[in-house]
Amino acid sequence: MPRKGNYRVDYEDDYDAYEDYEYYDNDNDYDYGYNANENGVVPESKEIQEAAKIGIWRCPICTYDNEDDMSACEICGVLRNPLVKGHSKSSSGPVGGICKDSGVSIMAKSLFASLPQHKPKKAVVFEAKNGALLKGEPGNILGDFHDFHRAFSSQNKYKFNIAPYKFDGPSPDDLVSSGMRSSTLGSKANFKTSSSPDVSRKEKELKIEVEREITIEGHDSSSASTSKEKGPLLKIEGKPQTISGDMMKMSISSKSGSAKNANRARASVSAPFKPEKWMLPDQIEDKLSQLNLAIVGHVDSGKSTLSGRLLHLLGRISQKEFHKYEREAKQLGKGSFAYAWALDESAEERERGITMTVAVAFFDTKKYHIVLLDSPGHKDFVPNMISGATQADAAILVIDASVGAFEAGMDASGGQTREHTQLIRSFGADQIIVAVNKMDAVEYSRERFDIIKQKLGVFLRSCSFKESSILWIPMSAMENQNLVDVPSDTRLSWYQGLCLLDAIDSLQPPVRDYSKPLLLPICDVIKSQSQGQLSVVGKVENGALRSGYKVLVMPSGEIATVRSLERDNHVCNIARAGDNVTVSLQGVDPNRVTAGGVLCHPDFPVAVSKHFELKIVVLDVTTPILIGSQLEFHIHHTKEVARVVKILSLLDPKTGKVSKKSPRCLLSKQNAVIEVALEEEVCVEEYSRCKALGRVSLRASGRTIALGVVTKIVQNEQ
Ligand code: GTP
Ligand code: MG
Repeated sequence: MPRKGNYRVDYEDDYDAYEDYEYYDNDNDYDYGYNANENGVVPESKEIQEAAKIGIWRCPICTYDNEDDMSACEICGVLRNPLVKGHSKSSSGPVGGICKDSGVSIMAKSLFASLPQHKPKKAVVFEAKNGALLKGEPGNILGDFHDFHRAFSSQNKYKFNIAPYKFDGPSPDDLVSSGMRSSTLGSKANFKTSSSPDVSRKEKELKIEVEREITIEGHDSSSASTSKEKGPLLKIEGKPQTISGDMMKMSISSKSGSAKNANRARASVSAPFKPEKWMLPDQIEDKLSQLNLAIVGHVDSGKSTLSGRLLHLLGRISQKEFHKYEREAKQLGKGSFAYAWALDESAEERERGITMTVAVAFFDTKKYHIVLLDSPGHKDFVPNMISGATQADAAILVIDASVGAFEAGMDASGGQTREHTQLIRSFGADQIIVAVNKMDAVEYSRERFDIIKQKLGVFLRSCSFKESSILWIPMSAMENQNLVDVPSDTRLSWYQGLCLLDAIDSLQPPVRDYSKPLLLPICDVIKSQSQGQLSVVGKVENGALRSGYKVLVMPSGEIATVRSLERDNHVCNIARAGDNVTVSLQGVDPNRVTAGGVLCHPDFPVAVSKHFELKIVVLDVTTPILIGSQLEFHIHHTKEVARVVKILSLLDPKTGKVSKKSPRCLLSKQNAVIEVALEEEVCVEEYSRCKALGRVSLRASGRTIALGVVTKIVQNEQ
């Protein structure tokens, strides 16, 4: 039976912390990206003053020449500063109508203010009547971004020429993996691999010198045993040093602080990780390797029906169970959703006929243990889709072949075919099966299939999918055509390729990091009240674990013992990189284990931070990304509110080299290096250390606006 994972990003978060949000007013470390004065106001340059004389004003951010009566830049929306006289109704504002904050700050505060449940209490209502504005406390203008824009950039002139997004250069993955790393990359975590040519890859990995800093802080400096209860107390300090064995020099920190800052200033320790024999895969033990397969695509394309049908055909759903779904679905007047009900288990999902959270199911092929991750297609649930997609080794992109439906999925403004594809690619899945579903609705037309293949093919290649890594399968989940066998409908006789099941088996097995220290991002936490048991669910990204193994639970810093492991509802002894498992833990306070956390090797804790340098690719955005822009920051199974604190450079998409330093804003399709600061700390690794924990997506106003990788963890302020 499929497992309904809690791949749910909750919108119930309390954003109250936002109300006192400050924009570096007193922090000289952050620049505004231009020459703001101490009040954050941009003094008008000679050029700008001259421009004003001829009835235009030049935006200090994007340098666009706006008509004099515009109170905000037509291109980037930034407020004119000082505000145009006569446009301000308020006389209670700051001296001379100049806001305390810079235009950027004000704009930044308004940008993306429509984050879910984000209700800043101090938000000031601004009025926008007949082009007149604005009312409110200085420097505290917040509101719905769209309203804001309508008010400030009169006449709806605000438009960007949105062309289809193209990764016409290397993707963030490519940029980083091909060694094009940020010039400022100077992490303390330096990997030095052996340069000896005759050393095999595995041996090289074993010889990796990890300069690690491990600080484990606690509340009580007197007793190490207390540290176990309240969070670790140990702090490792000093210069990098080579340590043999498990013992590490640790000094007790007297500093109080949360254990989640365990790695805030990880003391440097050169300690090569030596995997034990059991951690490495044993071919005799299991011939099938595990493949995590995300089912993605536009809403209603048939993802759950396809998944349910496949499970039914492969005997993972019994006839009895299926009849039950069929009967219940018919009773609700949703007979066509019978197969989907195997995956859509909640009453709300069934009622609405849409998937809301990722469902996890298991089946075996000739070559793989498949972990199937059925994603929601509705745009409201993209955050949940992301949580599942971060685990994907490969993907099945389901397309609705019906006339108009394929086109809707490709729509630049709201088509999930596009967004899901970009996300899945950015999470590292480089093999994709395109299941062109509902072919029955177009009479199994070869022409329709070819049109879809041609149009979508262009887009997939623009997302860096290699031609050889894309498989195209015309099919009908509803009529069971081309799923596990050659199609029986003669209207599909023109197709001579693989059926879906064989296509899955033709995928290349992913490369796993078995010989690195354990990293298991926690996707879900299951607490059994009655039995007092605590389990976590997730995919092992690096290393391995087994019963009795001690793990460090981050970010809380608690040590737990693995009681047992389960894969596909079966107890297993060992889980290794790539395995999607349920881990039962003991000896840990359940309240200190959270989804979005990470299980790791006690001597190799994952980093925990709230300030990063990212290398990003901006997708199709209608609003430029500015310093101060507020974003949703998604990383493995967690999301956090973030703001852009620096835009360091623009990168040439072809070479990855810096093409411009300190640009004022970022537009569609640009590659850039930025710094973001999060509201709360998250578990993270630099991409060069662990891809799965170093990939991020940035969202705003319900859309993914940029994809990227963590190139540097900036030291948190103490
Ligand atoms: P979300 O999870 O909400 O994004 O939807 P989904 O992609 O999982 O679609 P789902 O499986 O719920 O199916 C949506 C509708 O499409 C249902 O009414 C299905 O019966 C129908 N459907 C699915 N596959 C086929 C098919 O091959 N042919 C036809 N004609 N209809 C199909
Ligand atoms: Mg579904």
